[in-house]
Amino acid sequence: MTLTEILPTLRSSLPAHLDPGVWPRTARWGDGGDLCVGGASLAALAAEHGTPSYVVDKADVRGRCRAYADAFGPGDVAYTGKALLSVDVARWVAAEGLGLYAGSAGEVRVAALAGFDMGKVVLYGSAKTPEDLDAAYAAGVGTVVVESLGEITRLAATAPHGQRVLLRVLAEPEPAGGGDRRFGLRVAGGEAAAAVARIAAQPGLRLAGFDCSLGHQLNRFSLYEREIGRLCEFAAAMRRAHGVEPERLNLGGGHAVAYRPAELDLALEAFATRMRAVLHLEAGRHGVPAPRLTVSPGRAVVARAGVTVYRVLAVTRTQRGDRLVAVDGGMSDCPATALCGSRHSAVLIGRTGLAGTGPAVGVGRHNDADDVVVPDAQLPADVHPGDLLAVAGTGAYHHARATNFHLVARPALLAAADGRARVLIRRESLDDLLARDLGR
Ligand SMILES: Cc1ncc(COP(=O)(O)O)c(C=O)c1O
Repeated sequence: MTLTEILPTLRSSLPAHLDPGVWPRTARWGDGGDLCVGGASLAALAAEHGTPSYVVDKADVRGRCRAYADAFGPGDVAYTGKALLSVDVARWVAAEGLGLYAGSAGEVRVAALAGFDMGKVVLYGSAKTPEDLDAAYAAGVGTVVVESLGEITRLAATAPHGQRVLLRVLAEPEPAGGGDRRFGLRVAGGEAAAAVARIAAQPGLRLAGFDCSLGHQLNRFSLYEREIGRLCEFAAAMRRAHGVEPERLNLGGGHAVAYRPAELDLALEAFATRMRAVLHLEAGRHGVPAPRLTVSPGRAVVARAGVTVYRVLAVTRTQRGDRLVAVDGGMSDCPATALCGSRHSAVLIGRTGLAGTGPAVGVGRHNDADDVVVPDAQLPADVHPGDLLAVAGTGAYHHARATNFHLVARPALLAAADGRARVLIRRESLDDLLARDLGR
């Protein structure tokens, strides 16, 4: 029996447990019910920078980059920037020796501004615009991922001589769904083989290997193992037909992240060891030299480093008796909750004397039935307007996907480290928003 079971009143005076698998690595309770990330007080950050604000634990991001570098080798990991990107975030990734998967001219520009070694940058995207390609060529991006047949002719005509390309291969006979399986070259039906032949016939392009993307929030090794087997089989066929040998095989990202205490991360070290073993086995079985195994995680590098701090604006009960706690943000800053049903952990911060907790739905300010921030929070009975709510696991696809729904300006992105916070991307102002409205 625990102390709080013997003395239930004690529970209300104890801060909620911060699960280290869900909250940033440096998250700690501070004085007066405050929550600190990177040694910086979130209540003080809210007072200084306003709410909502995204706060990123720099040590967490760098630590996860390092863990990937240790597991796979720094040269064999590229961070997929669409999960969260700013010039500083790109610098942290570069400092850990990782590469970068960039999906647009904007992401390429950020990498260049960060002083990224552009040879380690990979431009990917199923529908690259001329601006994306021009930015990549101008910056000297190392590799471009080919994701459709038509793209090969286009790259041959425009890319610098000797451009390295990876071919995104859809090797699975019947895509199980989950990931973006719309683009890429299908092995079934011969499309991927035709793409290899076309690339091999272009003297200006160099086929560096194959690439795939299997989905998101994946925990099962078997999905990746099967893909390695299929790609090795394809590689053997391409060696026989065209004499090409892939130097790299990128397994993509999609590594699962825990948003709730009971959920499981992809076990990184075991995953790396297992994938290497399977690659050697499958390459041997198909009689091809084993290519270098690379990964391009996004979410798993940054998700848990992020916390969003909101101010509570209203508390009400529905006719059904559900307690709604409305905050000053919502689906404009956390669209994944509405779009993908992500379920985040949340705690009230910044004061003591919290009453016993009970169920509550954290909702946003957008007057929309889908506008949910935390569908099933456990919050103190006395939560009231003015309180601060910290939501965990918002480092990936939150800032990156924020919108101006309702003409709401987007929050600031702050980095916390060594007891201080720095603004990485300033809060958007209404003037920023209205500057684009030429009717004003
Ligand atoms: C090649 C590749 N790697 C990684 C990712 C990122 O996925 P996640 O953020 O789930 O790791 C994507 C996303 O589409 C991708 O295309």
